[in-house]
Amino acid sequence: MKTAGGSDEAKRRAGERAAAAVEDGFVVGLGTGSTTAHAIRAIGRAVDDGLEIRGIPTSFQSRQLALEVGVPLTDLDAVDGVDLAIDGADQVVDDRDAAAFGALIKGGGAAHAREKLVDTAADRFVVVADPSKLTDRLERSVPVAVLPDAHSVVADRIRALDGEPTLRDAERKDGPVVTDNGNLVLDCAFGRIDDPDELATRLSGIPGVVEHGLFVGVADATYIGTDDGVEVRR
Ligand code: 5RP
Repeated sequence: MKTAGGSDEAKRRAGERAAAAVEDGFVVGLGTGSTTAHAIRAIGRAVDDGLEIRGIPTSFQSRQLALEVGVPLTDLDAVDGVDLAIDGADQVVDDRDAAAFGALIKGGGAAHAREKLVDTAADRFVVVADPSKLTDRLERSVPVAVLPDAHSVVADRIRALDGEPTLRDAERKDGPVVTDNGNLVLDCAFGRIDDPDELATRLSGIPGVVEHGLFVGVADATYIGTDDGVEVRR
């Protein structure tokens, strides 16, 4: 089966391989999206087999799936640490010669604020992806979650950085996308992003920005599911 951006089989391989790294007693960050969903289902099966695992969901979607498959849930305030976070990505720099090797764009599911919180809190953060996500340089639009009152002023600041902001689903009959935390999302096109670290710093400095979807220097490894197996990049 093909799902948006890649085959479901490749996503399943990546997700299940990452879930195999979850050990008894682990607190696991549960990312968002169709690839991570395979990991959450596999963690549910590990719980059925008797492993004591607690999950910290990064979105309503991952929370619902974890409840459905029986993964006990907790939150960042209730634990001493997060052993492992497993999360998907919309784009991953796979060029070892690039300074930004391993940098990500996330936020296709508008969950990147909580994802960044949980993924960066983890001792180890593993990205799960299929080959359609790999790139030499980041070039997709960067999702930027903003306070609702701030969307036009942030949009002006994005334009001043030579970006083109689009309020996600602004034309929808029932209004634009609202994140789990009540924020709006500006999808910001910058063309090819040669220095994601610098752009990340600039975006974080704009008042009204809650979080952006550039994850630079955060991932410890990327598991890429293919039609034959799983490739690991570290
Ligand atoms: C959600 C995300 C997702 O992890 C990203 O969009 C990848 O999703 P999928 O595994 O369905 O391709 O960042 O905010």
